[in-house]
Amino acid sequence: MTTTDTSGAAGGVGSPGGTHGTGIPESGDTGVGPVALDGADWRGVAAEDADDVTADMGLGLRTRSRRLLGSLLRSHQRALRWLVAVVLVENAARLAIPYLVKIGIDLGIPPIQAGEGSRTLVTVTAVVLVCVVVQAFARAEFLLRSGRIGQQVVLELRRRLFRHFQRLSTAFHDRYTSGRVISRSTSDIDALEEMLDSGFDGLVTAVLTMVGTATVLLLLDLELGLVALLAFPPLIWLTRWFRRESALTYRRTRETVAAVIVHFVESMTGIRAVQAFRREPRNEEIFAEVNEDYRRANERAFRLVGLFMPGIKLIGNVTIALVLILGAYRALDGEVTVGTLAAFLIYLRQFFEPMQEVSQFYNTFQSASAALEKISGVLEERPQLADTEHPVPLPVAHGRVALEDTSFEYVPGRPVLAGLDLSIPAGQTVALVGTTGAGKTTIAKLVSRFYDPTSGRATLDGIDLRELADDTLRRHVVMVTQENFLFAGTIADNIRFGRPDATDEQVRESAAAIGAHTFIEALPQGFDTQVETRGGRLSAGQRQLVAFARAFLADPAVLILDEATSSLDIPSERLVQRALRTILAERTAIIIAHRLSTVEIADRVLVLEHGQVVEEGTPAGLIAAGGDGRYAALHDAWIESLA
Ligand SMILES: Nc1ncnc2c1ncn2[C@@H]1O[C@H](COP(=O)(O)OP(=O)(O)O)[C@@H](O)[C@H]1O
Ligand SMILES: [Mg+2]
Repeated sequence: MTTTDTSGAAGGVGSPGGTHGTGIPESGDTGVGPVALDGADWRGVAAEDADDVTADMGLGLRTRSRRLLGSLLRSHQRALRWLVAVVLVENAARLAIPYLVKIGIDLGIPPIQAGEGSRTLVTVTAVVLVCVVVQAFARAEFLLRSGRIGQQVVLELRRRLFRHFQRLSTAFHDRYTSGRVISRSTSDIDALEEMLDSGFDGLVTAVLTMVGTATVLLLLDLELGLVALLAFPPLIWLTRWFRRESALTYRRTRETVAAVIVHFVESMTGIRAVQAFRREPRNEEIFAEVNEDYRRANERAFRLVGLFMPGIKLIGNVTIALVLILGAYRALDGEVTVGTLAAFLIYLRQFFEPMQEVSQFYNTFQSASAALEKISGVLEERPQLADTEHPVPLPVAHGRVALEDTSFEYVPGRPVLAGLDLSIPAGQTVALVGTTGAGKTTIAKLVSRFYDPTSGRATLDGIDLRELADDTLRRHVVMVTQENFLFAGTIADNIRFGRPDATDEQVRESAAAIGAHTFIEALPQGFDTQVETRGGRLSAGQRQLVAFARAFLADPAVLILDEATSSLDIPSERLVQRALRTILAERTAIIIAHRLSTVEIADRVLVLEHGQVVEEGTPAGLIAAGGDGRYAALHDAWIESLA
């Protein structure tokens, strides 16, 4: 995936003053800024661009996130039930310990004082020991199991996300920049991972401990228990405040870290353009801004924790002091035993300790749910060009291509093609010429089904492309463009990409057929030369030749060349030209080219203007027609430029 328009993409991140408090500075280069959405408009990834999350929308996001989490956990139900059992055992053991201390003090010590031996105390101590050991083992089991489940869930989610991103249409990827894709699959997944790894554990333990402890406190001594419960109102108030504030704050940190990643990735993906246009200083400014936003958001988060944690401790310690004083008087009056008081104080400690974990959990939970919101949004995006359920089989294609009364618009209300009819018999080579923006590439994209027509249909051998399985279509229709992406691997691998089961011999033959073997064999390891990612080692022309070899090896019924020869020098183009006659001989071809030398090999030329065919004929015929013919004019200009 490439993002060539860095300036445009970066502008979406850091348009002046646009990053301060305006929600998500993530809109791509569609020009659609952050907007308030309502009703059902927020489905899919749209909510990412929302300025304010309305109540209705928030509910929808939560349901959607929960559904995703549910579906991820479904296959682990048995393991989860086991986990619950383990956690219950662990907590029972933990809760038992202070009570055993009480028994030890109240029932174990008096016999010793009375000289009746230490049997009770020893027994109680032994039971405490058992509890401690059980607790330790249960804890270990819990950590091990929950870690395993967490990792499996994350693995599954990463796998789903990758597969989904791959299946989403190029139209989606046009809008959703690579920075956002990376942000989703790295920092968002990490946030979820953190919650599953530590946060979940913290919450379960904390809730069980707190509920369990509160119950035991009331049972142990109602009066002291009620005093301890006095801590509840300030505790609830503080926790609520923290929840509200941290919800905002953590949403903000997620957004700002996403902005940092997006800007980073886009600057680096477009590094050539960045350097060519000396965009570095401005990029640094923007980066400094988004980075600063991120720091500020984190600082706010720390400030919240910095108030919340000591607050909890304070409430806890004050409560303990109160209980101690009151308990001491009650003990003197003989209303509670010393053992009960001791147990009470230990329970209280146990009660307040996990409160801090709850806050910690709340942080991870906030991050994770914000991340989950976005990930579930991506997963909710339907591949626009859905595969049909009952595809028409087409093992062999003749290559008859047609657009029937086809209209198309990228942006609603701005038609690029309106009611276009175009029919190309099998085996014909058609050249599309016309000014930039006339709609040539759009036609190519419709014929190769990177987009579906807004109305009308695109057909292959009379079958609507929507009724063909994607595999079938890709086997029969191949498009070569100017952007030729080479993957990490050898040259041979890259050519074989067109037909994975091809032999070395076939790879060589196809390279030879288009005249690419000369330069390939001159490389250090010939066909086994590793191309760096993005084919850095090859020139644009050489990459193009590899792409041709790839397409030739794929041997499709329909081949589309969209300005595919434009980065070749004249000698290479001559070479390809000669090869093209071979390549195109037995198939349908659509050639889009500016160099009329390439157009001349076509059987038929269509001159396009504003999505309409304004002239049509053989290359020679159109030139012969001369006069005010557009092709004739183009041809004259071309001849002149050669002179
Ligand atoms: N991804 C897109 N989103 C919105 N408009 C587009 C997109 N791609 C092309 N267009 C518009 O569609 C029209 C035709 O473009 P295109 O088919 O690429 O022209 P050509 O290949 O003839 O130069 C142009 O007006 C262009 O602005
Ligand atoms: Mg074009």
